[in-house]
Amino acid sequence: MKQIPETGVSKEVIMKELRQMKSLDFDWKAGRVPSYTYFVDDETLDIQREAYGEYIAENGLGAGRAFKSLERMTDDIKSMALSLFNAPTGAGASFTSGGTESVLMAVKTARDLTRYTRGEPDGRYNIVACETAHPCLDKAGQLLGVDVKRTPHTADFRADPALMRASIDEGTMMLFASAPNYPFGTFDPIGDIGALAEELKLRLHVDGCWGGFLSPFAERLGYPIPNWDFRVPGVSSLSADIHKFGYAAKGASLVLYRNAEDQEHERFSFSGWPRGTYSTPTFLGTKAGGAVASAWSVMQFLGMNGYLRAAKLTMDATMQLIEGLNAIPDIYCLTPNGESNLISFATSDPKLDIYAVADRLEERGWLRGRMRDPKAIQQGVNPAHLPVVDEYLAAVREAINFVRRSAADAPVAYDEHSY
Ligand SMILES: Cc1ncc(COP(=O)(O)O)c(C=O)c1O
Repeated sequence: MKQIPETGVSKEVIMKELRQMKSLDFDWKAGRVPSYTYFVDDETLDIQREAYGEYIAENGLGAGRAFKSLERMTDDIKSMALSLFNAPTGAGASFTSGGTESVLMAVKTARDLTRYTRGEPDGRYNIVACETAHPCLDKAGQLLGVDVKRTPHTADFRADPALMRASIDEGTMMLFASAPNYPFGTFDPIGDIGALAEELKLRLHVDGCWGGFLSPFAERLGYPIPNWDFRVPGVSSLSADIHKFGYAAKGASLVLYRNAEDQEHERFSFSGWPRGTYSTPTFLGTKAGGAVASAWSVMQFLGMNGYLRAAKLTMDATMQLIEGLNAIPDIYCLTPNGESNLISFATSDPKLDIYAVADRLEERGWLRGRMRDPKAIQQGVNPAHLPVVDEYLAAVREAINFVRRSAADAPVAYDEHSY
């Protein structure tokens, strides 16, 4: 069993070992990783790193008391995002550690607000969502005692408002829609789902965790992005991750509410201990000050122009990949529409095992995501993928040839891998 060393190790030795360990990883900067990392350029990465380092010790739990600067930066970040997502006057937001926490807080707020308005302190409710919703919704449901009802997607991989309507019952408190969903990168019909929420007086949360900081810029570039934010009347809350296409260091996301008063139900407060009242706006206690400082600094550094430039690189890479993949015999992309930067491709050849293609790509250094239904290779695209489009397409062709040759020798059964 490894133990804390008796005597401390020198910085040189530690850094050498860190770099050695890093060499075991897939090369995300060279576009080999399908999600997890979001790289626009070295300059932005330096700002991210330096700002995080500057606030390495500061704690968001003390924002406003010990750290007025963190409070100011958090307020600026929320305000910039409320404006980006077309929030009306009276809207509010909370800074969280990631998409999962943002969705968790939206569900807690909806649950506690519903308990309050229905006068049911222990009320148990449900949320209706399409099956393509991110599993962080179910994680929130499990933690908060809220049921999640998933409805099948349409043939073009979107939520079906008619099926959602049919799943609503007296226990339903909220509808949940994705903009876009992670498996297919398609937008749910948020206008129709918003109208349903208004008609039945239900809340609607729109999960823009993946695309929140990409879609507004892709829309300005002319891509067919449907309305998904507070411009849609029935939307009560939104989530958007700054640590994805906002290019901030990890640990930065937002949950935004049309009515800031709803946030009373988001807050946790407790007084039953000797130390007095302990109260936090979101899930975390101690919060990385560096995540706030990096998000604030990168937003200042990139500006609207920088985000437009990053969105162009991302969408150029996406469209080139879709075109290149569709040109490979027996390969087709499931959603060739440019609504987002998520791509998945399948094969029309029943004898070609697409997971075996993914395994071969991974042997050659390209980490791939696997879709279960339909069986496909899936990835998110970021600017790091643009310089390697041709190299990647050549690797896909090689992997297909390799799998066909190996299958002719000895067929192997391949399992799906998680995420
Ligand atoms: C649509 C969507 N929602 C939520 C999440 C969860 O975000 P996080 O991993 O930051 O918790 C993701 C992550 O990819 C996502 O794509």
